[in-house]
Amino acid sequence: GDVGRGRLADPGAIVERALSALGRTRDLEGRRVLVTAGPTHEPVDAVRFLSNPSTGKMGFELACAARKQGADVTLVAGPVALENPAGVEVVRVNTALEMERAVSSAFPQSDIAVFAAAVSDYRPANPSARKLKKGADDEALSRIDLVRNPDILAGCGKAKRAGQVVVGFAAETDDLVENAQAKLASKNADFIVANDVSRGRVFGADENEVVFVSRAGEKRLPLESKRQVAEAILDEAKKFLK
Ligand code: C5P
Repeated sequence: GDVGRGRLADPGAIVERALSALGRTRDLEGRRVLVTAGPTHEPVDAVRFLSNPSTGKMGFELACAARKQGADVTLVAGPVALENPAGVEVVRVNTALEMERAVSSAFPQSDIAVFAAAVSDYRPANPSARKLKKGADDEALSRIDLVRNPDILAGCGKAKRAGQVVVGFAAETDDLVENAQAKLASKNADFIVANDVSRGRVFGADENEVVFVSRAGEKRLPLESKRQVAEAILDEAKKFLK
């Protein structure tokens, strides 16, 4: 056939058509998206820490989905086994205090910030720089004093400018929507992604069943893959932009 000069459609238009054929567009081109992911490790001593079973899957899917839609993405990740998603700026941290520092440097420039990390609420007040020994350090190891970690999402919610979209998560075993509404207010988020963890799911799972809770009401999503949930979260966040 004739494949001469001037016969190809504009490459940008081809990409756009292919993306819309896949149901996705580069809606987030020129936008900055910040995502937190994973657990944090809060040291007890040189070899022990407090943490939780978060794998970071949800946050990494969010970062990938935002990147696919053309955003400049910063992913602040706690200690997880996942690889850096292509084209995403990844800042690896261990503790909640390190996560807070990384987030506060990226948040002011972000258009959308999604807080998917399972941050430890408490940290040992006096972590030991050396390994505590069972026996000799029984006293120190059998009573670990804890102090509250900063609420990173609430700090950003408070600092939020007009036009910035802030999304939080709420994992609850009881009164899902009521608790999510309380978090929406206390953390000054635009919406909360609430998930019911009462049936022992979510942590490490590939699928997730969530409810979006905003000041306009609630929207229940079906059980979907974390990739689909990530896309739905970004679609919802886009409605709050501008
Ligand atoms: O209050 P709760 O921990 O249930 O709130 C969960 C939401 O707050 C999540 O979006 C989580 O990432 C965020 N969070 C935070 N810093 C904390 C605790 C929670 O950013 N110290």
